[in-house]
Amino acid sequence: MATKILVTGGTGYIGSHTTVELQNAGYEVVIIDNLSNSNIEVLDGIEAITGKRPEFMEGDITDMNTVRELFTRFPGIKGIINFAASKAVGESVQKPLLYYRNNLVGLLNLLEAMPEFGVEGIVFSSSCTVYGEPDVNPIDETAPIKPATSPYGNTKQISEEIITDFIHSGAPIKSILLRYFNPVGAHPSSLIGELPNGVPNNLIPYLTQAAAGIRKELTVFGDDYNTPDGSCIRDFIDVVDLAKAHVTAMRRMLDKKDTDPVEIFNLGTGRGLSVLELIESFERSTGVKVPYKIGARREGDIEKIWAEPTKANTVLGWKAEVPIDDTMRNAWAWQCRLGKK
Ligand code: UD1
Repeated sequence: MATKILVTGGTGYIGSHTTVELQNAGYEVVIIDNLSNSNIEVLDGIEAITGKRPEFMEGDITDMNTVRELFTRFPGIKGIINFAASKAVGESVQKPLLYYRNNLVGLLNLLEAMPEFGVEGIVFSSSCTVYGEPDVNPIDETAPIKPATSPYGNTKQISEEIITDFIHSGAPIKSILLRYFNPVGAHPSSLIGELPNGVPNNLIPYLTQAAAGIRKELTVFGDDYNTPDGSCIRDFIDVVDLAKAHVTAMRRMLDKKDTDPVEIFNLGTGRGLSVLELIESFERSTGVKVPYKIGARREGDIEKIWAEPTKANTVLGWKAEVPIDDTMRNAWAWQCRLGKK
């Protein structure tokens, strides 16, 4: 019988791509999502790609009764991937309690329910933001955790600690903490992708909307950083590569009996690319010009960060594979499907 996995936030950007890869790998997926930042049609996209519609329950994991109802309605869930969280850095500064509630209470409820319902492990979406501004790049998992620069970042640090403390207390569960660098792109089928609500905060949705004429121009936040071209450097990882890492992590966590109960992996390519280089890659691979101007630095931005992914490559047996130009082409195809001005 197929192993049943709960994907919270499964109609969201990374959740939907991960559901596709889980189903392709033979897992049975149950999604819970409150549809606060996604829509139900995403299930059609997942079904069109994989030939299978995942089980779906609309609900909010910050409500314990909902969580209990979920595990009762879908018995036999073995693993969880927890994507149900808020992720806009700026908004988290404006609405800290919303972030602490959404990101922490939901996690607490899941953890509390896991032993009760026999769930063996949880894969958690963490972020490279836990490293702050790194002293050295590329950065590996042993680097110190720096004070968070936003409530959002703080929720990721606290979540990692909550999971670790719970497991150290003897809870009968395992966990893999995945520290994402910058996920970008869309499924090559253009059937699922990122659906930003309102004005995008992140670089790629803003860039593709500017290229599509929906926004006047992209503002590059700063060209006076201590980097070769002056713009910030990030490790942009294709969302399908990222999704596949979750399948590998789930398999390891559930099937290998001798692994540590809590493991941490960086998910990145190992290559830093500047914001200006990314624009160049987009223009080169799509033949479409990006209208942009150089603006002031954005408060709270890290100058440069990219991953040392060797642990994920060797221990997890996963490697980012999609070339950045393909990722840019997929992001553009997805934008074209969403529409231009
Ligand atoms: C941020 C968070 C990261 C989080 C991610 C999810 C920090 C330091 N990083 O990543 O933890 O997981 O959001 O949303 O909190 N840029 C522009 N113009 C734009 C938009 C962005 O130049 O219109 C630049 C930014 O200055 C940055 C780069 O593009 O240098 C990437 O920005 P973005 O996509 O917002 O991601 P991060 O800030 O790296």
